[in-house]
Amino acid sequence: MSMSGSLAAGAAPGKVILFGEHSVVYGQPAIAAALGHGLGATVESCDDGPWLRIPRWGSEGLEVRPSVDGKGDAMCSAFALALRMTDLSLDAGVRVTVDGQLPLGVGLGSSAAFAVALLRGLADQQGQQLSHQRLSEGAEAIERIFHGNPSGLDHTVVITGQCLHFNRGETPRFREVQLGAELPIVIAWTPRAGTTREAVAQLKARRDQCPVEYDELFGAMGRLADAGAAALEAGDLQRIGTLFDLNHGYLNACGVSSPANEKMVHLARSAGALGAKLTGAGRGGASIALAPDDPNRVVEVLREAGFDALFTTVR
Ligand code: PMV
Repeated sequence: MSMSGSLAAGAAPGKVILFGEHSVVYGQPAIAAALGHGLGATVESCDDGPWLRIPRWGSEGLEVRPSVDGKGDAMCSAFALALRMTDLSLDAGVRVTVDGQLPLGVGLGSSAAFAVALLRGLADQQGQQLSHQRLSEGAEAIERIFHGNPSGLDHTVVITGQCLHFNRGETPRFREVQLGAELPIVIAWTPRAGTTREAVAQLKARRDQCPVEYDELFGAMGRLADAGAAALEAGDLQRIGTLFDLNHGYLNACGVSSPANEKMVHLARSAGALGAKLTGAGRGGASIALAPDDPNRVVEVLREAGFDALFTTVR
């Protein structure tokens, strides 16, 4: 493909669920925050576009054209939708590359970050700035292509870059949680067994066998998320760490932890983290540890055990 200069760009952070995954599906509050790591989109003009390139997607990277007449896979449809949302035609002379340090597909909001970075990059190319409302509509539509029925939490956190207290319901409700102190977080991850949808369905089957017991557990997880919000506002790292540990215990009781998640949280705690939990749907995927003292040591111990790991901050 031939290329010719001119550069535009857009970026978006990943997200991390600090408290309340899974119980949020049962009407309880959850707390999620934007991560210090994310994805960026660079847009170049070229004379045989449009092209979308994602070098780290899949084992060999991905390069796609937008779908025309609904043909092509989810990524082609998402690209076509992003072009339309930014008033670009399906034969626009653009070549977009989306890349960054955010781990993909492990529950850290990579599809929402992808959608928002792509929309921002294309809008920049057009000399536009998308309103929150328009970005949110576009990101939600792209998330719907990938995930079916997104809760809205991921793209709202990714667009605002804030830490949010979230209640699902007919109309989702968001409240900003202003952090009293920045959070030094080590993230470790491993491939997931199955999708978020499967993890939610499996927990529903367990809950249907013991509804009273599980609803009590979900209620406790909701109270813990509210306590977590207060500790985040107070900047009380010791207490946040302890609440991470408690939340992880509840998630284990829900059956969504895996041997890899257990190993990651135990290694992080024994390397000095104040607390650790799985984050997101579980069954593998990512775990987070609050590590203010020697985060690099925690990263090292996790990597020595064969996990991918990085140090980031939530502010
Ligand atoms: O791992 P993620 O980012 O897909 O998060 C899933 C969070 C759940 O509470 C398990 C599901 C949901 O829709 O809220």
